[in-house]
Amino acid sequence: METLRLDTTTKREEALKKAAEIIKNGGVVAIPTETVYGLAAAANNDEAIAKVFIAKGRPQDNPLIVHIADVEQLKSVAVEIPKEAELCAERFWPGPFTMVLKKSDAVCESVSRGLDTVAVRLPSHPTAREVICQSGVALAAPSANASGYPSATTYKHVLDDLDGKIDAVLMDNDCEIGLESTVVTFAVSPPRLLRPGAVTVEHLREIIPDLEVDKAVLSDLEKGQKAASPGMKYKHYSPKTEVFLVEGEAEQFASFVNSKQNAVAICFAEDSGISIDKLVYATKSEPESLTKQIFSLLREIDNKKYSAAYVHAPQKNGVGLAVYNRLIRAAAFRVIKL
Ligand code: TXA
Ligand code: MG
Repeated sequence: METLRLDTTTKREEALKKAAEIIKNGGVVAIPTETVYGLAAAANNDEAIAKVFIAKGRPQDNPLIVHIADVEQLKSVAVEIPKEAELCAERFWPGPFTMVLKKSDAVCESVSRGLDTVAVRLPSHPTAREVICQSGVALAAPSANASGYPSATTYKHVLDDLDGKIDAVLMDNDCEIGLESTVVTFAVSPPRLLRPGAVTVEHLREIIPDLEVDKAVLSDLEKGQKAASPGMKYKHYSPKTEVFLVEGEAEQFASFVNSKQNAVAICFAEDSGISIDKLVYATKSEPESLTKQIFSLLREIDNKKYSAAYVHAPQKNGVGLAVYNRLIRAAAFRVIKL
């Protein structure tokens, strides 16, 4: 199929109208959100959702996030919403935050994939919200990348992975955060963090003091262990180049990578003394810079023939936890502690 390019910067109204029309007719459209690009389909259309799974090559048991445009819509997809979830919605929506709740009968099996829960997010990105409103229905949308590969944070990344496999892509600006939303399940007590994101554990504990952090956030599932989130089971965020996550001080990192041949260092602006190829993903002293570039760089290294990429690990607090969570998976849990 031909993938339509719809330009939301120069022909915004026309692009939004066309995107909504495609979705209403059961098609799939890649849309920007403040986190990463999402591959959107009408959440009440089984056939459209089947196309999303095929385009991405997504494992069949991995459920989708339902995206809504206002808080009122939450009650149509979820039931038994606890007080803490309501408070989180007030504080973190619209934004990079997803809640897993008991699902209502209105959520179809093709979204929940056999679970009795549903993941819901109210994005803040004006384009995403406009598409949801004009489509007149909640949108099921996973990240718009080929399954297993780093998420798409620009429309060009979407086309690299999905050109010819989806009906359209909205050509919008690069995603501001660059990392997927925080996912918290309220279907267990106390609530539990399943995936860290820009809404941090520290932010969440102001509302949920006893929030638990799932073990799988920082480690691989043990043999036979059931995943709290089906997505935890699968290979994720992985470029073709072999990635290693390296923990240590700047000087240790530099002397370690300098001994490597044909490798690239992915590091902080503050890192000095590196004599091999290097790509800067963030400024260590500015935590808000940690998220935006990392997926983009993990994609970029595949354009060269490096034998390996060594990423200087962030601290595991604040938004650093989210970046560490993605990197440890990109590195298939290969962590080097200097
Ligand atoms: O920022 C985001 O969340 C992006 C944008 C497009 O909104 N979406 C996204 O979707 O990252 P996806 O499908 O790539 O990741 C959703 C994760 C998966 O790991 C999935 O297993 C988990 O959320 N998930 C979805 N529904 C769930 C449920 N009912 N219970 C537990 N985990 C769930
Ligand atoms: Mg994804």
